[in-house]
Amino acid sequence: MTKIAILGSTGSIGTTALRVISRLKDFQITALSANGNIPLLNRQALKFKPKKIAVGQKQIEDISLIQDADIVLIAVVGFAGLKPLINAIKLKKRIALANKESLIVAGDLINRMLKKYNAGIIPVDSEHSAIRQCLEGKNIREVSNIILTASGGALRKHTVKELQKVRVADVLNHPTWKMGKKITVDSATLINKGFEVIEAHYLFGIPYEKIKVVIHPQSLVHGAVEFIDGTIIAQMGITDMAIPIQYAITHPKKFPPITKKLDLASAGKIEFLRPDMRKFPCFALAMQAARESGSMPVVLNAANEVAVKKFLDGKINFMKIPRLIETVMKRHKTVKNPDMDDIFRLDAETRRYAEEIN
Ligand SMILES: NC(=O)c1ccc[n+]([C@@H]2O[C@H](COP(=O)([O-])OP(=O)(O)OC[C@H]3O[C@@H](n4cnc5c(N)ncnc54)[C@H](OP(=O)(O)O)[C@@H]3O)[C@@H](O)[C@H]2O)c1
Repeated sequence: MTKIAILGSTGSIGTTALRVISRLKDFQITALSANGNIPLLNRQALKFKPKKIAVGQKQIEDISLIQDADIVLIAVVGFAGLKPLINAIKLKKRIALANKESLIVAGDLINRMLKKYNAGIIPVDSEHSAIRQCLEGKNIREVSNIILTASGGALRKHTVKELQKVRVADVLNHPTWKMGKKITVDSATLINKGFEVIEAHYLFGIPYEKIKVVIHPQSLVHGAVEFIDGTIIAQMGITDMAIPIQYAITHPKKFPPITKKLDLASAGKIEFLRPDMRKFPCFALAMQAARESGSMPVVLNAANEVAVKKFLDGKINFMKIPRLIETVMKRHKTVKNPDMDDIFRLDAETRRYAEEIN
Protein backbone atom coordinates (compact mmCIF):
# COMPACT_ATOMS: atom_id res chain seq x y z
CA MET A 1 0.00 0.00 0.00
CA THR A 2 1.28 3.45 -0.90
CA LYS A 3 0.10 5.99 1.64
CA ILE A 4 -0.84 9.40 0.36
CA ALA A 5 -1.78 12.69 2.02
CA ILE A 6 -3.73 15.21 -0.04
CA LEU A 7 -3.57 18.81 1.12
CA GLY A 8 -6.32 20.80 -0.56
CA SER A 9 -8.47 17.72 -1.21
CA THR A 10 -11.66 19.76 -1.75
CA GLY A 11 -10.24 21.80 -4.64
CA SER A 12 -10.09 21.17 -8.35
CA ILE A 13 -6.78 19.23 -8.21
CA GLY A 14 -7.68 17.56 -4.90
CA THR A 15 -11.03 16.18 -6.09
CA THR A 16 -9.50 15.01 -9.38
CA ALA A 17 -6.71 13.28 -7.43
CA LEU A 18 -9.31 11.45 -5.34
CA ARG A 19 -11.08 10.34 -8.54
CA VAL A 20 -7.76 8.99 -9.83
CA ILE A 21 -6.93 7.23 -6.57
CA SER A 22 -10.41 5.65 -6.32
CA ARG A 23 -9.61 3.78 -9.51
CA LEU A 24 -6.07 2.75 -8.57
CA LYS A 25 -5.38 -0.24 -6.39
CA ASP A 26 -2.88 -0.17 -3.55
CA PHE A 27 -3.27 3.47 -2.52
CA GLN A 28 -4.39 4.44 0.94
CA ILE A 29 -5.35 8.00 1.91
CA THR A 30 -3.77 9.01 5.22
CA ALA A 31 -4.71 12.69 5.36
CA LEU A 32 -7.10 15.16 3.70
CA SER A 33 -7.55 18.89 4.15
CA ALA A 34 -9.81 21.80 3.25
CA ASN A 35 -10.06 25.47 4.04
CA GLY A 36 -13.79 26.19 4.22
CA ASN A 37 -15.64 23.46 2.37
CA ILE A 38 -16.39 21.30 5.39
CA PRO A 39 -19.38 19.42 3.89
CA LEU A 40 -17.21 18.10 1.04
CA LEU A 41 -14.31 17.31 3.38
CA ASN A 42 -16.76 15.33 5.53
CA ARG A 43 -17.99 13.32 2.58
CA GLN A 44 -14.41 12.64 1.48
CA ALA A 45 -13.45 11.58 5.01
CA LEU A 46 -16.38 9.15 5.19
CA LYS A 47 -15.43 7.62 1.86
CA PHE A 48 -11.63 7.45 2.15
CA LYS A 49 -11.28 7.10 5.95
CA PRO A 50 -8.00 9.03 6.38
CA LYS A 51 -6.26 8.90 9.76
CA LYS A 52 -6.13 12.68 9.89
CA ILE A 53 -8.04 15.62 8.50
CA ALA A 54 -7.11 19.28 8.71
CA VAL A 55 -9.09 22.47 8.28
CA GLY A 56 -7.49 25.82 7.51
CA GLN A 57 -3.97 27.05 7.07
CA LYS A 58 -2.71 26.52 10.63
CA GLN A 59 -3.72 22.86 10.62
CA ILE A 60 -2.09 22.03 7.25
CA GLU A 61 1.15 23.43 8.65
CA ASP A 62 1.20 20.76 11.39
CA ILE A 63 3.99 18.37 10.42
CA SER A 64 2.25 15.38 12.04
CA LEU A 65 -0.48 15.61 9.39
CA ILE A 66 1.81 14.13 6.74
CA GLN A 67 4.12 12.04 8.91
CA ASP A 68 2.50 8.74 7.92
CA ALA A 69 2.38 9.37 4.19
CA ASP A 70 4.77 8.08 1.51
CA ILE A 71 3.55 10.71 -0.97
CA VAL A 72 2.29 14.19 -0.19
CA LEU A 73 0.18 15.88 -2.85
CA ILE A 74 0.24 19.63 -2.23
CA ALA A 75 -2.87 20.93 -3.96
CA VAL A 76 -3.47 23.95 -1.75
CA VAL A 77 -3.73 27.24 -3.65
CA GLY A 78 -1.42 30.21 -3.07
CA PHE A 79 1.35 31.08 -0.62
CA ALA A 80 -0.36 28.80 1.94
CA GLY A 81 1.33 25.87 0.17
CA LEU A 82 4.85 26.91 1.17
CA LYS A 83 4.92 25.67 4.80
CA PRO A 84 3.47 22.22 3.94
CA LEU A 85 6.07 21.93 1.16
CA ILE A 86 8.88 22.74 3.61
CA ASN A 87 7.48 20.13 6.03
CA ALA A 88 7.26 17.48 3.31
CA ILE A 89 10.87 18.12 2.26
CA LYS A 90 12.11 17.92 5.85
CA LEU A 91 10.35 14.57 6.23
CA LYS A 92 11.95 13.42 2.92
CA LYS A 93 8.56 12.61 1.43
CA ARG A 94 7.91 12.06 -2.23
CA ILE A 95 6.17 15.26 -3.23
CA ALA A 96 3.57 15.65 -5.96
CA LEU A 97 3.49 19.42 -6.29
CA ALA A 98 0.52 21.23 -7.78
CA ASN A 99 1.07 24.38 -5.72
CA LYS A 100 3.26 26.47 -8.00
CA GLU A 101 3.22 29.60 -5.83
CA SER A 102 5.62 27.99 -3.32
CA LEU A 103 8.27 27.60 -6.05
CA ILE A 104 7.68 31.13 -7.33
CA VAL A 105 8.34 32.68 -3.94
CA ALA A 106 11.11 30.39 -2.65
CA GLY A 107 12.51 28.39 -5.59
CA ASP A 108 16.18 28.80 -4.65
CA LEU A 109 15.68 27.89 -1.00
CA ILE A 110 13.40 24.96 -1.89
CA ASN A 111 16.04 23.58 -4.28
CA ARG A 112 18.70 23.87 -1.60
CA MET A 113 16.44 22.06 0.87
CA LEU A 114 15.65 19.30 -1.65
CA LYS A 115 19.39 18.65 -1.97
CA LYS A 116 20.03 18.80 1.77
CA TYR A 117 17.19 16.41 2.67
CA ASN A 118 17.49 14.27 -0.46
CA ALA A 119 13.80 14.75 -1.27
CA GLY A 120 12.17 14.99 -4.68
CA ILE A 121 9.35 16.84 -6.39
CA ILE A 122 7.26 15.52 -9.25
CA PRO A 123 5.30 18.39 -10.80
CA VAL A 124 1.55 18.13 -11.29
CA ASP A 125 1.23 21.20 -13.52
CA SER A 126 0.48 19.71 -16.95
CA GLU A 127 3.22 21.65 -18.79
CA HIS A 128 5.91 20.65 -16.31
CA SER A 129 4.68 17.08 -16.16
CA ALA A 130 4.99 17.02 -19.96
CA ILE A 131 8.49 18.50 -19.94
CA ARG A 132 9.62 16.09 -17.25
CA GLN A 133 8.38 13.21 -19.40
CA CYS A 134 10.19 14.61 -22.48
CA LEU A 135 13.39 14.84 -20.42
CA GLU A 136 13.25 11.28 -19.06
CA GLY A 137 16.53 9.52 -19.80
CA LYS A 138 17.93 12.62 -21.54
CA ASN A 139 21.07 14.62 -20.83
CA ILE A 140 20.04 18.08 -19.60
CA ARG A 141 23.22 19.52 -21.22
CA GLU A 142 21.84 18.53 -24.62
CA VAL A 143 18.68 20.62 -24.15
CA SER A 144 18.62 23.83 -26.15
CA ASN A 145 15.13 25.06 -25.16
CA ILE A 146 12.13 23.97 -23.21
CA ILE A 147 8.79 24.97 -24.62
CA LEU A 148 5.73 25.73 -22.52
CA THR A 149 2.46 25.71 -24.41
CA ALA A 150 -0.32 28.16 -23.48
CA SER A 151 -3.95 27.99 -24.50
CA GLY A 152 -3.94 31.79 -24.26
CA GLY A 153 -6.67 31.82 -21.61
CA ALA A 154 -10.27 32.91 -21.87
CA LEU A 155 -9.44 36.36 -23.26
CA ARG A 156 -6.86 35.59 -25.96
CA LYS A 157 -8.90 37.22 -28.72
CA HIS A 158 -10.11 40.24 -26.74
CA THR A 159 -8.93 43.70 -27.76
CA VAL A 160 -7.39 45.99 -25.14
CA LYS A 161 -10.67 47.93 -25.11
CA GLU A 162 -12.69 44.76 -24.51
CA LEU A 163 -10.31 43.72 -21.75
CA GLN A 164 -11.29 46.84 -19.77
CA LYS A 165 -14.87 45.59 -19.57
CA VAL A 166 -14.58 41.86 -18.93
CA ARG A 167 -16.66 40.48 -16.11
CA VAL A 168 -15.71 37.80 -13.58
CA ALA A 169 -17.96 35.31 -15.42
CA ASP A 170 -16.11 35.91 -18.74
CA VAL A 171 -12.79 35.25 -17.07
CA LEU A 172 -13.94 32.10 -15.29
CA ASN A 173 -15.04 30.62 -18.59
CA HIS A 174 -11.69 29.01 -19.54
CA PRO A 175 -11.75 27.55 -23.06
CA THR A 176 -9.94 24.25 -22.39
CA TRP A 177 -9.26 23.59 -18.68
CA LYS A 178 -11.63 23.40 -15.69
CA MET A 179 -9.69 24.71 -12.70
CA GLY A 180 -10.02 26.57 -9.40
CA LYS A 181 -10.98 30.27 -9.58
CA LYS A 182 -7.59 31.75 -8.73
CA ILE A 183 -5.63 29.86 -11.39
CA THR A 184 -8.39 30.54 -13.93
CA VAL A 185 -7.97 34.29 -13.38
CA ASP A 186 -4.17 33.83 -13.47
CA SER A 187 -4.56 32.08 -16.83
CA ALA A 188 -6.65 34.95 -18.22
CA THR A 189 -4.11 37.61 -17.16
CA LEU A 190 -1.31 35.28 -18.40
CA ILE A 191 0.53 35.71 -15.11
CA ASN A 192 0.08 31.96 -14.84
CA LYS A 193 2.36 31.49 -17.87
CA GLY A 194 4.92 33.76 -16.22
CA PHE A 195 4.63 31.67 -13.05
CA GLU A 196 5.12 28.54 -15.12
CA VAL A 197 8.31 29.92 -16.66
CA ILE A 198 9.66 30.55 -13.14
CA GLU A 199 8.44 27.13 -12.00
CA ALA A 200 10.22 25.45 -14.97
CA HIS A 201 13.43 27.36 -14.21
CA TYR A 202 13.53 25.95 -10.68
CA LEU A 203 12.23 22.45 -11.45
CA PHE A 204 14.61 21.75 -14.34
CA GLY A 205 17.52 24.11 -13.59
CA ILE A 206 17.16 25.75 -17.02
CA PRO A 207 18.13 29.43 -17.49
CA TYR A 208 15.28 31.80 -18.37
CA GLU A 209 16.57 32.52 -21.87
CA LYS A 210 16.10 28.85 -22.75
CA ILE A 211 12.42 28.73 -21.71
CA LYS A 212 10.02 29.62 -24.53
CA VAL A 213 6.25 30.10 -24.57
CA VAL A 214 4.12 29.15 -27.57
CA ILE A 215 0.37 29.69 -27.92
CA HIS A 216 -1.43 26.42 -28.66
CA PRO A 217 -5.20 26.99 -28.42
CA GLN A 218 -6.19 23.30 -28.53
CA SER A 219 -4.19 22.37 -25.35
CA LEU A 220 -3.31 18.92 -26.67
CA VAL A 221 0.48 19.35 -26.65
CA HIS A 222 1.27 20.11 -23.03
CA GLY A 223 4.97 20.82 -23.31
CA ALA A 224 8.03 20.10 -25.43
CA VAL A 225 11.81 20.02 -25.29
CA GLU A 226 14.11 21.05 -28.12
CA PHE A 227 17.51 19.35 -28.15
CA ILE A 228 20.78 20.65 -29.58
CA ASP A 229 20.39 18.50 -32.71
CA GLY A 230 17.16 20.36 -33.56
CA THR A 231 14.88 17.48 -32.53
CA ILE A 232 11.76 18.46 -30.60
CA ILE A 233 10.13 15.90 -28.31
CA ALA A 234 6.60 16.84 -27.24
CA GLN A 235 4.08 15.25 -24.87
CA MET A 236 0.40 15.08 -25.82
CA GLY A 237 -2.81 14.04 -24.15
CA ILE A 238 -6.38 15.14 -23.58
CA THR A 239 -6.97 18.22 -21.42
CA ASP A 240 -7.68 16.51 -18.13
CA MET A 241 -5.56 17.02 -15.01
CA ALA A 242 -6.26 13.38 -14.07
CA ILE A 243 -3.37 12.44 -16.40
CA PRO A 244 -0.54 14.53 -14.88
CA ILE A 245 -1.87 13.84 -11.37
CA GLN A 246 -1.74 10.09 -12.03
CA TYR A 247 1.76 10.42 -13.48
CA ALA A 248 2.95 12.30 -10.37
CA ILE A 249 1.58 9.80 -7.88
CA THR A 250 2.33 6.54 -9.69
CA HIS A 251 5.72 7.45 -11.18
CA PRO A 252 7.76 5.54 -12.36
CA LYS A 253 4.94 3.04 -13.01
CA LYS A 254 2.18 3.61 -15.55
CA PHE A 255 -1.46 2.52 -15.30
CA PRO A 256 -4.48 2.88 -17.62
CA PRO A 257 -6.02 6.38 -17.41
CA ILE A 258 -9.36 7.09 -15.77
CA THR A 259 -10.16 9.39 -18.69
CA LYS A 260 -10.61 8.68 -22.36
CA LYS A 261 -7.41 8.63 -24.39
CA LEU A 262 -6.44 11.15 -27.05
CA ASP A 263 -7.45 9.88 -30.48
CA LEU A 264 -4.99 11.60 -32.83
CA ALA A 265 -7.04 10.85 -35.93
CA SER A 266 -9.95 12.85 -34.56
CA ALA A 267 -7.90 15.57 -32.86
CA GLY A 268 -8.41 17.95 -35.80
CA LYS A 269 -6.39 21.11 -36.30
CA ILE A 270 -3.37 21.68 -34.06
CA GLU A 271 -1.92 25.20 -34.12
CA PHE A 272 1.17 26.84 -32.65
CA LEU A 273 1.28 30.63 -32.62
CA ARG A 274 3.81 33.20 -31.51
CA PRO A 275 2.47 34.84 -28.37
CA ASP A 276 1.57 38.53 -28.34
CA MET A 277 2.04 39.43 -24.70
CA ARG A 278 1.57 43.20 -25.14
CA LYS A 279 -2.12 42.97 -24.18
CA PHE A 280 -1.23 41.05 -21.04
CA PRO A 281 1.13 43.11 -18.87
CA CYS A 282 1.05 40.53 -16.06
CA PHE A 283 3.30 38.24 -18.10
CA ALA A 284 5.91 40.99 -18.47
CA LEU A 285 5.66 41.77 -14.74
CA ALA A 286 6.29 38.12 -13.90
CA MET A 287 9.33 38.06 -16.20
CA GLN A 288 10.58 41.31 -14.65
CA ALA A 289 10.31 39.76 -11.19
CA ALA A 290 12.06 36.60 -12.44
CA ARG A 291 14.99 38.61 -13.84
CA GLU A 292 15.21 40.74 -10.70
CA SER A 293 14.91 37.55 -8.57
CA GLY A 294 15.73 37.80 -4.82
CA SER A 295 12.60 38.93 -3.01
CA MET A 296 10.80 40.39 -6.06
CA PRO A 297 8.90 37.17 -6.95
CA VAL A 298 7.54 37.11 -3.36
CA VAL A 299 6.14 40.59 -3.89
CA LEU A 300 4.80 39.69 -7.34
CA ASN A 301 2.97 36.68 -5.92
CA ALA A 302 1.51 38.41 -2.86
CA ALA A 303 0.34 41.41 -4.90
CA ASN A 304 -1.24 39.08 -7.43
CA GLU A 305 -3.07 37.04 -4.78
CA VAL A 306 -4.55 40.23 -3.31
CA ALA A 307 -5.42 41.65 -6.75
CA VAL A 308 -7.11 38.43 -7.92
CA LYS A 309 -9.19 38.26 -4.73
CA LYS A 310 -10.25 41.89 -5.20
CA PHE A 311 -11.23 41.17 -8.80
CA LEU A 312 -13.22 38.06 -7.84
CA ASP A 313 -14.96 40.07 -5.09
CA GLY A 314 -15.96 42.70 -7.67
CA LYS A 315 -13.81 45.42 -6.05
CA ILE A 316 -11.52 46.13 -9.04
CA ASN A 317 -11.79 45.64 -12.78
CA PHE A 318 -9.69 43.15 -14.75
CA MET A 319 -7.08 45.61 -16.06
CA LYS A 320 -6.52 46.91 -12.53
CA ILE A 321 -4.88 43.57 -11.66
CA PRO A 322 -1.58 44.37 -13.49
CA ARG A 323 -1.71 48.01 -12.36
CA LEU A 324 -1.96 46.98 -8.72
CA ILE A 325 0.90 44.49 -9.07
CA GLU A 326 3.07 47.06 -10.84
CA THR A 327 2.47 49.69 -8.16
CA VAL A 328 3.45 47.24 -5.43
CA MET A 329 6.55 46.01 -7.30
CA LYS A 330 7.73 49.56 -8.02
CA ARG A 331 7.73 50.39 -4.34
CA HIS A 332 9.71 47.29 -3.34
CA LYS A 333 13.48 47.38 -2.80
CA THR A 334 14.72 43.91 -3.68
CA VAL A 335 16.38 41.88 -0.93
CA LYS A 336 19.12 39.92 -2.76
CA ASN A 337 19.17 36.54 -1.01
CA PRO A 338 16.09 36.39 1.21
CA ASP A 339 15.92 33.63 3.82
CA MET A 340 12.65 31.91 4.74
CA ASP A 341 11.93 34.43 7.51
CA ASP A 342 12.36 37.29 5.01
CA ILE A 343 9.98 35.53 2.61
CA PHE A 344 7.21 35.10 5.18
CA ARG A 345 7.68 38.67 6.45
CA LEU A 346 7.69 40.21 2.96
CA ASP A 347 4.63 38.21 1.93
CA ALA A 348 2.68 39.53 4.92
CA GLU A 349 3.92 43.13 4.45
CA THR A 350 3.11 43.13 0.74
CA ARG A 351 -0.40 41.85 1.34
CA ARG A 352 -1.06 44.60 3.87
CA TYR A 353 0.15 47.26 1.43
CA ALA A 354 -1.67 45.78 -1.60
CA GLU A 355 -4.92 45.61 0.37
CA GLU A 356 -4.83 49.41 0.82
CA ILE A 357 -4.61 50.11 -2.91
CA ASN A 358 -7.93 50.66 -4.65
N1 LIG B 1 -6.75 23.31 -11.13
C1 LIG B 1 -5.85 22.98 -12.02
O1 LIG B 1 -6.17 22.40 -13.06
C2 LIG B 1 -4.39 23.29 -11.78
C3 LIG B 1 -3.46 23.02 -12.78
C4 LIG B 1 -2.13 23.27 -12.53
C5 LIG B 1 -1.71 23.77 -11.30
N2 LIG B 1 -2.64 24.04 -10.34
C6 LIG B 1 -2.20 24.59 -9.05
O2 LIG B 1 -2.70 23.74 -8.02
C7 LIG B 1 -3.04 24.51 -6.85
C8 LIG B 1 -4.50 24.24 -6.51
O3 LIG B 1 -5.31 24.72 -7.57
P1 LIG B 1 -6.87 24.41 -7.64
O4 LIG B 1 -7.31 24.92 -8.95
O5 LIG B 1 -7.11 22.97 -7.28
O6 LIG B 1 -7.41 25.36 -6.49
P2 LIG B 1 -8.85 25.31 -5.76
O7 LIG B 1 -9.83 24.57 -6.58
O8 LIG B 1 -9.15 26.69 -5.36
O9 LIG B 1 -8.55 24.42 -4.46
C9 LIG B 1 -7.69 24.88 -3.46
C10 LIG B 1 -7.67 23.91 -2.30
O10 LIG B 1 -6.88 24.48 -1.24
C11 LIG B 1 -7.71 24.75 -0.09
N3 LIG B 1 -7.26 26.03 0.45
C12 LIG B 1 -7.44 27.25 -0.12
N4 LIG B 1 -6.86 28.21 0.63
C13 LIG B 1 -6.31 27.59 1.69
C14 LIG B 1 -5.59 28.03 2.83
N5 LIG B 1 -5.30 29.33 3.02
N6 LIG B 1 -5.20 27.11 3.74
C15 LIG B 1 -5.46 25.81 3.58
N7 LIG B 1 -6.15 25.31 2.50
C16 LIG B 1 -6.54 26.19 1.57
C17 LIG B 1 -9.13 24.77 -0.60
O11 LIG B 1 -10.07 24.45 0.43
P3 LIG B 1 -11.65 24.82 0.28
O12 LIG B 1 -12.15 24.01 -0.89
O13 LIG B 1 -12.23 24.36 1.56
O14 LIG B 1 -11.70 26.29 0.04
C18 LIG B 1 -9.04 23.66 -1.65
O15 LIG B 1 -9.04 22.40 -1.06
C19 LIG B 1 -2.75 25.97 -7.23
O16 LIG B 1 -1.48 26.33 -6.77
C20 LIG B 1 -2.76 25.98 -8.75
O17 LIG B 1 -1.94 26.97 -9.31
C21 LIG B 1 -3.96 23.80 -10.56
